[in-house]
Order: sequence, then C-alpha cells, then structure tokens
Amino acid sequence: MEKVLKDWSDHLNKAILQDFPFAVWIKDKEGRYLAANKRMAEYLGINSPEELLGKTVHDFLPSEVANVISHEIDAVLTFGSPVHSEKKYPVKGGNRWFDVYQSPLTNGSEVLGVIGYAWDITERKLAEHSLAESEDRYRRVVEVSPEAIFIHCDGLFVYLNQAAARMLGASKPEDLYGRRALDFVRSDMQDVVAKRIENAWSHNDNPLIEEELVRLDGSIVYVEMVSVYLSYNGKDSVLAIARDVSERKQMQDALVKTQKLESLGVLAGGIAHDFNNVLMAIIGNADLALHKLNPESPVIDNLRRIEQAALKAADLAKQMLAYSGKGKFVIEKLNLNRLLEDMAHMLEVSISKKAVLRMHLYSGLPSVDGDATQLRQVIMNLILNASEAIGNKSGVITITTGCMDCDSNYLKDVWLIENIKEGLYVYLEVADTGHGMDHKTLEKIFEPFFTTKFTGRGLGLAAAIGIIRGHKGAIKVYSELDKGTTFKILLPASNKPAEVFNHVSENDGWRGSGTVLLVDDEETVRGVGKEMLQELGFSVLTASDGREAVDIFKATPNITVVLLDLIMPHLDGEQCFRKLRQIDKDVKVILSSGYNEHEVNQKFLGKKLAGFIQKPYKLSTLRDVLKNVFREK
Ligand SMILES: Nc1ncnc2c1ncn2[C@@H]1O[C@H](COP(=O)(O)OP(=O)(O)OP(=O)(O)O)[C@@H](O)[C@H]1O
Ligand SMILES: [Mg+2]
Repeated sequence: MEKVLKDWSDHLNKAILQDFPFAVWIKDKEGRYLAANKRMAEYLGINSPEELLGKTVHDFLPSEVANVISHEIDAVLTFGSPVHSEKKYPVKGGNRWFDVYQSPLTNGSEVLGVIGYAWDITERKLAEHSLAESEDRYRRVVEVSPEAIFIHCDGLFVYLNQAAARMLGASKPEDLYGRRALDFVRSDMQDVVAKRIENAWSHNDNPLIEEELVRLDGSIVYVEMVSVYLSYNGKDSVLAIARDVSERKQMQDALVKTQKLESLGVLAGGIAHDFNNVLMAIIGNADLALHKLNPESPVIDNLRRIEQAALKAADLAKQMLAYSGKGKFVIEKLNLNRLLEDMAHMLEVSISKKAVLRMHLYSGLPSVDGDATQLRQVIMNLILNASEAIGNKSGVITITTGCMDCDSNYLKDVWLIENIKEGLYVYLEVADTGHGMDHKTLEKIFEPFFTTKFTGRGLGLAAAIGIIRGHKGAIKVYSELDKGTTFKILLPASNKPAEVFNHVSENDGWRGSGTVLLVDDEETVRGVGKEMLQELGFSVLTASDGREAVDIFKATPNITVVLLDLIMPHLDGEQCFRKLRQIDKDVKVILSSGYNEHEVNQKFLGKKLAGFIQKPYKLSTLRDVLKNVFREK
C-alpha cells in the first residue's frame, strides 16, 4: 500500500515539476529556493529549475520587485499564515499579472520556510479590464444621452439619467428614485402604459408611441417613448427611452389649427357674403316700406320685426365674416383706451346685473393699427362671455390694458402663433371670476360653432380670433375651473400716435341730388339700392357688372357718384374703379361689399376712394355715407 501511494505521489511530483501551467516553489526562511518547477524557471528566464536552487529573487528581479516579494515572505513567516495577492510582475516576455499564494512550510511546530504558487491571470485581468471599460463606456453614453432614459423595477424608478430627471422637472435623478413611474403619466393614458409595462416584463419590445408625461410641477411634456425588458441588478425591470417632442407637437397643432381656420374661414366668408346680399334685400325693403307707410298702418310692427330679425341675422353674418378675416376695412391708428372709454357705458349695460366691471387702463398706451368697429366687436364678445361665465352669481370682470415687450418664449403658447413676431405689443385683458374651463373645452373654444351654452351660437370667439388674426395679433388664454378665465389680446404696437376715429353722424333727413350709378351683380341689391337712392333724392342708373358700368359711365355725362360692388363677374370692383378713373380722374366712387379684403382695401386707400359701405345697409347708413361724399365735394 505504501509503495502504491509513493508511486502515485511520484507521478504528482513529476507533473507539478514538469508540466503544470503554474509556478510552484519552496523557499527557506531566507528566501532561498529549495525547490521550484519548470514553469518558475521559465518565468524568471532561466533554463532549468536547478539553476534556481540556493538563489533568491534578488538574483533575478529588479530590487524594487524583489523587495516586495521578500516582505511577503517575511509576513508569512512572522504570522505563520498564508498570504494571497494579485500583482503584476516583470517576467520574461514582459509584465504579467499573477495570482500568488504563499503559506508557511512547517515541520510540526517549527517553521521551515515558505511554499507558494503563482498563476498567470493576465488574460482574465485583460478581460475584466475590457468589461469594466465597456461598462464605463455604456454608463457614460447613458448619462450624457440627450434622450431621457428610465429604468423601473416593480414599477418604481431605480435609475434615470440627467435628461430623464430634467424631463420630469427634478434637479437630479436621485430625487426620483423610488417614485412610481406611472404617476408621471397623464391619468387618461395610464391604462395603456400599464399594459406596455406588463408586455415588457414578458420580454416583448414595445413600439414607439406618443405619451404625455406629467412633470413634478404638473405641466405636461409630450414624448415619444419606447420600452423594453431589462435585467437590472439581477431583477426583471423595464428600460424606457423617451424623446421630448413638445415643440414638434406644438408646431403641428398650430398648423392644424391654422389650416382649419383657413378652410372654415373660406366657408364662413362665402356664406356670409351671399347671406349679406339676401339680407340687403330684406332690410332695405323693410326700411323702404317703413318710410313709405302711413305711420298709422297696422303692418308697421310686423315690418319692424322683420327688420329686427334681419339685423340679428346680419350680426351673425358679421361674426362669420370676422372669423373668415374678410370683414376688415377701415384701418386707423387707434388708442385702445379711448375705444374702451367710449364703450364703457354700452359694456356696463350689456353685462349681468351681478357682475361688476372694472377697468385698469394704462395711461401711456401706444396706439395700434386697427379697425375700431372690429375691435369693438372683439371686446364685446369677450365681455359677453365673461358675463355669461359669471352667470347668476356675483363676480368681477376686469379689463386691463398695457404694453409689453414679448419675446419668443412668452409668445410660444399663444393662439395664432404662426403670424406672430417678437416685439412691442399692446395688450387688452378681459378677466372674469366665472366658472372657468377645463382642458378639453379650452382646446375648442375658437372653433366656429363650438359652444357649451344652450342658446350659444359659438361664434363669439371664432369672430374674435379672425379679427385678431387680421390685425397680426395673438391671444393668450388662462383658465381654471371654478376660478375664472382671462383672455389676453396682444396687438402689435404702432409707433405713431393715435388718430381720432370716425363718428357716424346723426340722422337729419338730409337729401341729395344728381345721378348715381349703382353697380351690383345681384338683382335684389340693385332693386332695393335704387329705391333707397331715389328715396334720398337721386336719379339712379344701374349696371349689373363692371363692363356695363364703364359703358354707361362713358355714355352718360354728369354722373355724380358711383356706388360700386367689389366682387362681380367680368370686371370686378377694383378693375372697374381703375377704368372709371381713366375716364374721369375725379370720379366719386363709393365701394360696397358683403366682405372686403384688407389687401383690396390697401390698394384702394391711396387712390381716393370717396367712401365705403358694408352690405347689408340701411337707408340711414347710405344717407350718412353719401352725405360725407357731398360734404367733401
Ligand atoms: N370667459 C369664459 N369663461 C368660461 N368659458 C368661456 C369663456 N369664454 C368662452 N368660453 C367657452 O367657449 C365657448 C365658445 O365661446 P364663444 O363666444 O365662441 O361662443 P358662445 O359664447 O357659446 O356663443 P356666442 O358667443 O356665439 O353667442 C363657450 O360656449 C364657453 O364654453
Ligand atoms: Mg360668446
């Protein structure tokens, strides 16, 4: 048995000494080699292990390395216990990493020396190093990524990068660790997102979707989000990557709004235009009938009611025209404070008895380029809405004017962003303490025919936005449910002082004389217009389009005034006007239209237009306009 054991240990000794891929040695207490294997000799760059015997590492290695090894041997001898180290040693072929293990060699209680082995771990070290390097690389990529990166485990945040913290409104990622990820998703999207989280847990990738996240301060950020499964610190987790698309979304929304506004505007403008011609016939004929009738006649009341209903309809058409942006005509330098002061009484009587109206008008207000009638319409619409929002309760409506420099940051959440530039703006704010609006209502308020009121027509704000748009202005709206609403109108400040605006003169029974050429493609308008002009004392010639008008004008001397429709077939109002002026440069032309484009107005302004009248018009309005023409003559 002993013999067998010895044979086997001889084999072991031989293997260790000759073939093993690690170095083994025994040293005496002075560090002299008593035995070593072939690998040890190789490491030290000598041919055979025998050459090592009786020598120390100082004979083979630089002294600073040899000293370290001596210290380790001392430690083993002093404490009588093993020493383990991982170190780099200079060996034949360069520096390599070694795992070195040395323990005391004893003979019962006496320590004879040290037995040790060294294992070359350079490859493992390199692998570890490159792993650490790649980990570091990925960590840095994640940390500095402009995309927001979130990891949540059991639904709670365990990692966020800086961009993610910023996206949610935290100053550093740690502030959000442990918070529930779903709490940062807008409530109506939480079900969808919860399903996606489950899906990721089942190792399925979730495709890109748009989500709305709620930041710490409650504001909304629009993101595109992907999420996938991730094992994080050995736990099933979800990795989510989000990109902020708020700006893109805002631009898209603005574009959609603009397109909607434009297409609906064309429609509304078209309807209003034709509608106005019909109303012209109704109002005009009712008006004429009232004039001609015996004051005792029993139908007078009916006629008045026809007239009133038609005027209401005209008001509707006016709102639609305003929305379409085609109702604008008379641009003046206006002082909004003056405008408001003049309206104060009318506003007071228009609002609910329970509402108190306050005005804070800034005295140094610059003027704006605007159409007084249309801006009055905007103010009236806002005031009526404010009063309706207050309803039967008590409340306050505050009108404030002022002036401010608006930068792009301030202008980024206004309505009508597409035509707005940075600069000085005059603002007019109408604030109420009414019932306010929720998010969904706010989105739609400027759409024509959107109303939440039983008797509402949904045209007030649509008209307002059309008018503001025509003035190159913008609107900001703030509203809180049950607290109130503020509409802030911004209009570009003009650098010139305000002019005094036109006032309509009183009805004084004025009559004119001479010949008026009435040009309109609508037969009904020609009919009623002719009668009105005759009623005012004029002889009347009519033409149904521009070409005919020019022919008649050429053939007839002494035409005092031409009452010219703007939009007609063949030769429209503008072309006709040009031709008439070629025939007689002093020709007096009053332009009439169911709608008027600002651009056309600009073309006419420099060319001495004698006047303008908006259809449908009443006898008294026609009288005023003609009277003005004759006064100037
Ligand atoms: N100051 C406000 N407070 C609360 N809600 C408002 C306010 N102003 C407007 N709204 C909301 O916006 C909607 C649209 O207003 P808009 O003035 O265009 O139409 P309307 O007032 O309903 O009808 P119309 O003005 O044509 O008679 C209203 O129905 C209301 O829901
Ligand atoms: Mg309204």
